[in-house]
Amino acid sequence: MKKFSVVIAGGGSTFTPGIVLMLLENLQRFPLRAIKFYDNDKERQETIAKACAIILKEKAPDIEFSYSTDPETVFTDVDFVMAHIRVGKYKMREKDEKIPLKHGVLGQETCGPGGIAYGMRSIGGVLEILSYMEKYSPNAWMLNYSNPAAIVAEATNRLKPNAKILNICDMPIGIETRMATIAGLKSRKEMRVRYYGLNHFGWWNRIEDLQGNDLMPKIRKHVEQHGYITELKDDHTEVSWNDTFAKAKDVYALDKDTLPNTYLKYYLFPDYVVKHSNPNHTRANEVMENREKNVFGACRAIIEKGVSSAGHLEIDEHASYIVDLATAIAFNTQERMLLIVPNNGSINNFDATAMVEIPCIVGSSGPEPLVMGEIPRFQKGLMEQQVAVEKLVVEAWIEKSYQKLWQAITLSKTVPSASVAKAILDDLIEANKDYWPKLS
Ligand code: NAD
Ligand code: G6P
Ligand code: MN
Repeated sequence: MKKFSVVIAGGGSTFTPGIVLMLLENLQRFPLRAIKFYDNDKERQETIAKACAIILKEKAPDIEFSYSTDPETVFTDVDFVMAHIRVGKYKMREKDEKIPLKHGVLGQETCGPGGIAYGMRSIGGVLEILSYMEKYSPNAWMLNYSNPAAIVAEATNRLKPNAKILNICDMPIGIETRMATIAGLKSRKEMRVRYYGLNHFGWWNRIEDLQGNDLMPKIRKHVEQHGYITELKDDHTEVSWNDTFAKAKDVYALDKDTLPNTYLKYYLFPDYVVKHSNPNHTRANEVMENREKNVFGACRAIIEKGVSSAGHLEIDEHASYIVDLATAIAFNTQERMLLIVPNNGSINNFDATAMVEIPCIVGSSGPEPLVMGEIPRFQKGLMEQQVAVEKLVVEAWIEKSYQKLWQAITLSKTVPSASVAKAILDDLIEANKDYWPKLS
């Protein structure tokens, strides 16, 4: 069986060790000859890489492992690039979250003005990695997790329409795992779903078991009472995530024919989110105090003792989805998966050029989107507003346009007025001057 060479871009990410453990767990179906890390922060990457080197040497000594900040070294002889970079790191995420809150608007990694600010940083970083891949390994595929995936996908589709990049999100996977538990199934793979929307902005409108039995009534009944809170333990057990899973109950109440993505709470209940936010301590702080501290602490312990058992790192089971995708491309499995792809008529009463999240059949030549047909007016109205925001951000980045970015922030459902949008924008420009194109 062919063995693959994989780059993890954003080698210094808190998710990298979990992905490495997950790749090791899946070698039977996705055999590897090389794992390479790339990051533009040498020191941050080194801590993760030195620990992963010890793990790999113990568990899979045949896999060649290396890491570097030099693109040519890393991107030469590669089959897949799995990317999860965060341009500006947590320091800038913290600003994305706290600046809007100063103006009474919610602060979130991928939604509202914070997500827009992050998008303006991320587009260039992701395009740069794509260009390295195309230069040194033109036949490779890039599987991109880097957020905000909606804006990044719009940008890559607009500027590199023929590139072999697939933008993906693990949120539906996490929610579907909870749905499977609610339905009494062992795995989300025992369900077949229909889902439509934008990234972090979508709805399930059919969920069946593999025999074709409708699971929606049972799941609906649970969500109506408890949102997506289940007995199941998972990685996102911090208070803020539990609140998000619980709030799905109120999001669901708006349309009882569908089941919502948790991220819709930011658009439908922004006042609630602001009221429950601490402007001095946001999710970025929570992540730095928990995930970042734990992952880097475990890596340092492993390096110090020279054995993998010296630090506890959690396998990222959600990310096995990225192996499903790589396997589908590598072995033409024709697996059905949710991906962010050009609409092109799949949602037939919606903008053909929009990047939408819908089920696709995936094989060696990439994704073939399924037809989702006509969507209801409520969802269509929300999606039209949000897709306009995302397109305006990408146009603002390309044209370096202050005006278009102001329009984008104004149009976001999370922002009450053009004057508030302008005040937030002016603060964001100042905070992002090392990362954004200079706007005029
Ligand atoms: P992190 O800050 O720990 O890691 C990001 C890494 O990217 C850092 O080591 C940083 O140095 C590196 N980086 C930044 N700019 C770069 C560039 N231009 N080139 C190369 N490397 C660069 O962040 P994290 O919390 O581990 O998250 C990583 C990313 O994965 C984020 O974008 C996050 O939103 C995303 N993510 C997405 C999904 C999804 O559903 N799509 C799921 C989980 C995480
Ligand atoms: C979910 C989303 C991602 C997001 C991630 C991490 O998995 O799909 O897009 O980046 O959560 O969020 P956190 O707040 O824990 O960094
Ligand atoms: Mn996501």
